[in-house]
Amino acid sequence: MTDDLTKERNEYLLKAIKTLKRQVFIISEDFKVLAATDWAVSRTKTPSFAHVKGKKCYKIFFGEEKPCSTCPAASVKITADSVVRHITKDSNTATCLYAYPIDDPELAKSRKKTIVVLDFNIEAFDMHDDRRVVSDAFLRNLISSAVDGIIASDRTGKVIIFNKAATKITGYSKQQALETLDIRNIYPPGDAREIMKNLRSDYYGGKGILKPYKQTCLRKDGTPVQINLTASIVYEGEKEIATLGFFHDLTETIRMENKLRKIQNQLLQSEKMSSLGQLAAGVAHQLNNPLGGITLFSQLMLEEHDLSEDAKTDIKRIKKEAERCRLIVKELLEFARQTKKEIKPCDINDLIKRTLFLLQNQSIFQNIKIVTDFPEGLPEAYSDVQQLNHVFMNIILNAADAMEGKGILTIKTSFIQKNNVILIAISDTGLGFEEDVLKNIFDPFFTTKEEGKGTGLGLSMAYGIIEDHNGKLSAENNKDKGATFFIELPTKQSNN
Ligand SMILES: Nc1ncnc2c1ncn2[C@@H]1O[C@H](COP(=O)(O)OP(=O)(O)OP(=O)(O)O)[C@@H](O)[C@H]1O
Ligand SMILES: [Mg+2]
Repeated sequence: MTDDLTKERNEYLLKAIKTLKRQVFIISEDFKVLAATDWAVSRTKTPSFAHVKGKKCYKIFFGEEKPCSTCPAASVKITADSVVRHITKDSNTATCLYAYPIDDPELAKSRKKTIVVLDFNIEAFDMHDDRRVVSDAFLRNLISSAVDGIIASDRTGKVIIFNKAATKITGYSKQQALETLDIRNIYPPGDAREIMKNLRSDYYGGKGILKPYKQTCLRKDGTPVQINLTASIVYEGEKEIATLGFFHDLTETIRMENKLRKIQNQLLQSEKMSSLGQLAAGVAHQLNNPLGGITLFSQLMLEEHDLSEDAKTDIKRIKKEAERCRLIVKELLEFARQTKKEIKPCDINDLIKRTLFLLQNQSIFQNIKIVTDFPEGLPEAYSDVQQLNHVFMNIILNAADAMEGKGILTIKTSFIQKNNVILIAISDTGLGFEEDVLKNIFDPFFTTKEEGKGTGLGLSMAYGIIEDHNGKLSAENNKDKGATFFIELPTKQSNN
């Protein structure tokens, strides 16, 4: 009697499943179809179940060559637990599947694992619950259009959610990420393990949570991107089922921070320059008159006839030293840019050639090889020839000093079309800058030269002049040996 009852019940159940107008199929562990509803068969466009039996489910039902990227059966194989998954065919359609293992003693005996997969398309099921349909679509839309990258991965590291912003940050397409990307590969080696360790600990925002922090992420081409990462573990009960990460791209923020730091430094430099310049100009003016007096009176004394030769020599010395002082005063006034600027178009190559012509015969240049690279057709720079001459002289003499009279001086000019500037690079093969020196070289009176050899005004003056020309002056150590100074000067066009 009981047997009859069971038999009858089983027959009804079988009929009900067979005729169910949904895609239901049973597969073996290696994705081969063992059974399927008529409706599932009809969707394959094959005439009967005989054509479906033994075929790979991903091929026959989804037209794929390998298991779908978010295959629920694959998850059941690992966890032996039921699961709901979206099989994303493209960005607009998503079929939701529910899969569970058949927990049957007979099958267990034969050690065959069988998995039931059934159509669990929420939108179709929820026809009568519009609100849920809307909210599901809304959530998908929300994730897709979020400004930050959103990436979720399952316990095996397989990516299961990958929104538009994530494709921008990482360079992977959504399809590549869902099909082939292992979440560990978007971090430098070892970082993913560290992130998981921190996520599971209590110290970085609580268990299962990682508060925002700066992290390097590797793009598809291997280039690093700085991001702010917020992550969490998704639990089902006590079990970890996925990891969710929010990736905020910091590239633009870092660029702005660097720009701001540079501007702050420039401001600081020009503030220092202007206050020192004013001070220098004040002192220079005060000194000019008494120095003029000393020169004039020593000249008058020299014209007296009854002076001894010794006295004459001393007075000549006084006059010479006073003239030297006047020269220094002149330099100071120029430093403070109190002398009038005369701006006109000028050929930079020609100007440097003239400076080199003056310098190369000096003894310090005897063992220095001068290499130049002056391209033809360089646009003219709109500048003050005298002042630029001063800048080149200073930088070239500094280079000769740094090489202690022996080495190679290389001067290259080029036109940077993008910024409309002429770039002059002056390199030497000297000792380069010591760590602490580089940040101070443009400071007035900063010198590493012994007393009497350098005033420390050369580069600060050069800096002021180039800034006055709306240009840029910077310096850095060469990779191998020595230092390079870069001067950027706007061309006539950009000044107009
Ligand atoms: N090419 C270079 N290589 C290495 N260090 C340099 C180079 N050019 C400049 N410096 C460093 O920068 C310092 C400042 O240079 P700056 O031209 O302002 O003053 P100075 O040469 O010491 O004195 P001044 O030019 O007034 O005679 C130098 O003392 C030196 O330490
Ligand atoms: Mg100098």
